Amino acid sequence: MSQKNDRQNLMDKITSLAKRRGFVFPGSEIYGGLANTWDYGPVGVELKNNIKQAWWKFFVKNREDVVGLDAAILMNSRVWEASGHIAGFNDALIDCKACKARIRADHLIEDSLNIKAEGMTPEDMTKLIEENNIKCPVCGKKDFTNARKFGLMFKTFQGVTEEDKNIIYLRPETAQAMFVNFKNVLSSTHKKIPFGIAQIGKAFRNEITPGNFIFRTIEFEQMEIEYFINEKDWEKSFEYWQEQMASWLDYIGVKKENYSIREHDKDELSHYSKKTIDFEYNFPFGTKELYGLAYRGDFDLTQHQEHSKQSMEYFDTENNRKYIPHVIEPTFGVDRSVLAVMIDAYCEEEAPTADGKTETRVVMKFNKNIAPVKVAILPLSKKENLSKKAKEVFDLVKTEFASQYDESQSIGKRYRRQDEIGTPYCVTVDFKSLDDDAVTVRDRDTMKQERVKVGELVEWLRKKLS
Ligand code: GAP
Repeated sequence: MSQKNDRQNLMDKITSLAKRRGFVFPGSEIYGGLANTWDYGPVGVELKNNIKQAWWKFFVKNREDVVGLDAAILMNSRVWEASGHIAGFNDALIDCKACKARIRADHLIEDSLNIKAEGMTPEDMTKLIEENNIKCPVCGKKDFTNARKFGLMFKTFQGVTEEDKNIIYLRPETAQAMFVNFKNVLSSTHKKIPFGIAQIGKAFRNEITPGNFIFRTIEFEQMEIEYFINEKDWEKSFEYWQEQMASWLDYIGVKKENYSIREHDKDELSHYSKKTIDFEYNFPFGTKELYGLAYRGDFDLTQHQEHSKQSMEYFDTENNRKYIPHVIEPTFGVDRSVLAVMIDAYCEEEAPTADGKTETRVVMKFNKNIAPVKVAILPLSKKENLSKKAKEVFDLVKTEFASQYDESQSIGKRYRRQDEIGTPYCVTVDFKSLDDDAVTVRDRDTMKQERVKVGELVEWLRKKLS
């Protein structure tokens, strides 16, 4: 089988596992779905929460120089005027006149010609598509409209009348709230530069391209830091945050060989950025942006100072001077993190069955710190005395470790289920447990089993899961 098919198969396998085991479901499925929306199921929400909590611990709680924020999604529209989003946050789209498909012109160029199209004008894109006889990926015809710009922000109305003056936007990034609150945070915390503000929250973009599962959605979550610095330190700070982002990827178990770093060309840079790099992940559908790191200069604070007429200056007491800080922005997509750790964790391996044969087992080898369930308690049979003993063990561990109790179907099937959701430890309560007050703990990765006294189980798990 070709490598391309293998990779496509992997994506199909992950999407199907995600639904079967409760990681991610298609959004509004019983009504035929809603393009580019997905819902996180019982296991998925735990995985996603673990990633967010790990991120908060890694970048906020464990540091003295970063503080948190949880701002409103809806903001005064003038924020988006100042940030440049109303004027400049758009995609160039073209319509196929034959089949009516609406397509992102930059993606069409990139996929057909294998060149980067960011930074090109709609006119350039139209010309390139014509000159290279690019065909519609849906119907194969060559009959396109010119490329035109479409705003990416979702609009809604505040109040009862749908007038232009009442238009508000669902935020397309969490970043702006951190700039708008720069002075509030400064005066309430008395932080000294360099320091950062971090936020985790929803962002919304009217994406029309088919999304490749949770890679590109219209509603997603971001984890962002705006790190305020003195301009002279920007290169050092940029390098430092690049290292921090790599350490974070290691912390959540994304292997080095599966991602790379790409610096944006000058004509590809966002309107605010002086230098940007992407952490690109080798997704089954291509090498694409996982995270970004941008040097935003003093663009945002200067814009907000001009538009709001409020000072965004910082007073440097040591040098007795005022200045507008510059900003380094590490930005992380939550949903893309979930997808990357799922792809990295997915493993198929030969495993022995109870009757001495072998079968292929699917196991999600998540790093233990983000595994959605840490421990499964499995009574060998549903006999009343075993269930009672197993529930006592479950009560013992559930307050400290995310745990599941499962007594349905054969023990083999339950192991396979737990392997597929990546549970590091399965604790089996058998008939011997009633006499020796011990349980068998099975390791997800090695499948080795160990007998552990119930009284020592919590401490045993603590050591293994720390
Ligand atoms: N504040 C800077 C900013 O928003 P971005 O590169 O547009 O930069 C940051 O977005 C991150 O958000 C991306 O690296 C990606 O992980 C995630 N992201 C962006 N658009 C997304 C979408 N449509 N669906 C899922 N994640 C998305």
